[in-house]
Amino acid sequence: MGRIITVVNQKGGVGKTTTAINLAACLAAQGQKTLLIDIDPQGNATSGVGFDKTNSQQNIYHVMIGEIGLADVVQSTSFSLLDLVPSNTKLVGAEVEMVNLKERENRLKAALEQLKQDYQFLIIDSPPSLGILTINSLAATQSILVPIQCEYYALEGITELLNTVRLVKRNFNQSLKIEGFLLTMYDRRTRLSIQVANEIKNCFKDRVFEVLIPRNVSLGEAPSFGQPIIHYSKHSQGAKAYKSLAGEVLLRG
Ligand SMILES: Nc1ncnc2c1ncn2[C@@H]1O[C@H](COP(=O)(O)OP(=O)(O)OP(=O)(O)O)[C@@H](O)[C@H]1O
Ligand SMILES: [Mg+2]
Repeated sequence: MGRIITVVNQKGGVGKTTTAINLAACLAAQGQKTLLIDIDPQGNATSGVGFDKTNSQQNIYHVMIGEIGLADVVQSTSFSLLDLVPSNTKLVGAEVEMVNLKERENRLKAALEQLKQDYQFLIIDSPPSLGILTINSLAATQSILVPIQCEYYALEGITELLNTVRLVKRNFNQSLKIEGFLLTMYDRRTRLSIQVANEIKNCFKDRVFEVLIPRNVSLGEAPSFGQPIIHYSKHSQGAKAYKSLAGEVLLRG
């Protein structure tokens, strides 16, 4: 059965989507059949691997409200061994429409049952909120990977996130684990980055991934070309870092 990892942090712009896309792509490049699942109405993971998020085709929204199964919306990407479950803004409506649906916290989990045998990794990109979509991703996942941006207020909201994880664990997903905390947008020239990195390592110790994701121009550019970094700029520092992350994830197996 595949390993399901959710990239989560309700704080916006910390590198969740960049991490989900590039971890998924690096795992696929290492021979692991991988499914990238976009459960954010912003659809950035969808466009980041080359799909048009304005397209009206069926997507994760139709799965969440129970119209169709997850297998019906899987798209193969142009990258070997990497598939996508797309999202778009329609998913905003799901928050409201799901209110009266039964087992509303477990809908993604139920949908994944159909597919988790078919992949070695399933990587979920979650939205910047702790709403029902994120709760669904936490209920469905085996572990969480939490990107933390090396900036002021880096740890803001982490307590709230961990409280939510605890609640989900108690109510919906007893075996939920923390895969690790990932330091993102690290700039080794700034004292602030170094301070934040040290603070987080003191706080979470060996649960912090060894690799630091550097602030890297190519990582910022790649999404507008619809390509993961290992295809857009394979010798960049960003590509090296995400390859190392995939290596750590494989080792932690
Ligand atoms: N290591 C990096 N170096 C340079 N730019 C980066 C890096 N990581 C992410 N970015 C850029 O920073 C912005 C925010 O990143 P990203 O979209 O991955 O964050 P997010 O947590 O998914 O945001 P949201 O909360 O809106 O979903 C994007 O424009 C992205 O291209
Ligand atoms: Mg995102």
